[in-house]
Amino acid sequence: MNLRIPGPTPVPAAVAQAGAADMINHRGPEFAAIIRRTTAGAQQVFQTKNAVLTLTASGSGGMEAAVVNHVAPGERVLVVTIGVFGQRFLDIVRSYGAEPVELAFEFGSAADPALIDDALKANPDIRTVLITHNETSTGTTNVYLPQVSEIVHRHDALMIVDAISSLSSIPVLTDEWDLDVVISGSQKGWMTAPGLTFVSVSDRAWARQETNPMPRFYFDLRRAQSALERGETPWTPALSLFFQLDKALEMMLAEGLEAIYERHHRLARMTRDGIRALGLELLAGEGLESDTVTAVKIPEGVDGSKFTKVAREEFGTVFAGGQGPLRGKIFRFGHLGHVHEEDIRAGLVAVEKTLVSLGYAVANRA
Ligand SMILES: Cc1ncc(COP(=O)(O)O)c(C=O)c1O
Repeated sequence: MNLRIPGPTPVPAAVAQAGAADMINHRGPEFAAIIRRTTAGAQQVFQTKNAVLTLTASGSGGMEAAVVNHVAPGERVLVVTIGVFGQRFLDIVRSYGAEPVELAFEFGSAADPALIDDALKANPDIRTVLITHNETSTGTTNVYLPQVSEIVHRHDALMIVDAISSLSSIPVLTDEWDLDVVISGSQKGWMTAPGLTFVSVSDRAWARQETNPMPRFYFDLRRAQSALERGETPWTPALSLFFQLDKALEMMLAEGLEAIYERHHRLARMTRDGIRALGLELLAGEGLESDTVTAVKIPEGVDGSKFTKVAREEFGTVFAGGQGPLRGKIFRFGHLGHVHEEDIRAGLVAVEKTLVSLGYAVANRA
């Protein structure tokens, strides 16, 4: 099977093998060496000197950690949404008794920094802004993140960023862009199985945690930080995933971040060119297309509900469908992590064959 969803992504054989190692004592010296190494590696990938905490949870756990540690019950927060994953922040914030003020942008577009400025001017009580960097549901990157960060800090607010499907594949300059809390997830560009989430914390964010009255336990980042100082995690970590991550980071840092970004950009362009050559349209606006996932509109006359089933059953390729209001209207082609030209070429051929099987007259052959 060619797994072309935007996470979980294929794991290199050496990483899978690393994960098969025997268990060790998670409170012993071997694990301390591993977590110190993976934390230093993650800080390089995050491009930060801030603390980066690795939690045993999926990306949504990292998002929940960001909320419970920095948002108070009853607090009004600005949630900037450009798709389904931005909306997840709304749900988490509401679940903890805080009040989201949503600033929604049309699916396929990026957040307009000027409108964020207006929203913060109109709501001077807001001290926290939550935003998605790369919207996996629409294949769109919020390209104005550095400008947004500057505005958020001008209003003395904290900037919390879901970079789950971008960080490690697309540049996210945590320190240069002054991002307070940044979240990523192992099953995306990190070439590791699902189950670890990474959360970086700035000095401003640590200060907020000290006075935040929100109850928290498993995801208390102060506990994670004090355990990390001993070379441990507060609770039993997913050891096999740490073994995988250790190997994956070794491979990533050997390739080099710039080379990784370049490879993702090149393969994304190849995907987009191939898709357009078939006469199909992308959901993301021009210049906003994600380098990790391409969202493609199902063409007129094709039954969108059948696309992923036919691609999987007849052509051995797994694409993701649309989520929420996009169900049946798009399919998503993932190109992040351990991905190479031949994977894209095979994916494009599968797209073409699937469309032909569903009765579409393709413009050009892939
Ligand atoms: C942008 C974004 N945010 C949040 C999530 C949720 O992460 P998880 O499914 O690992 O909980 C995902 C995963 O697809 C994502 O792509």
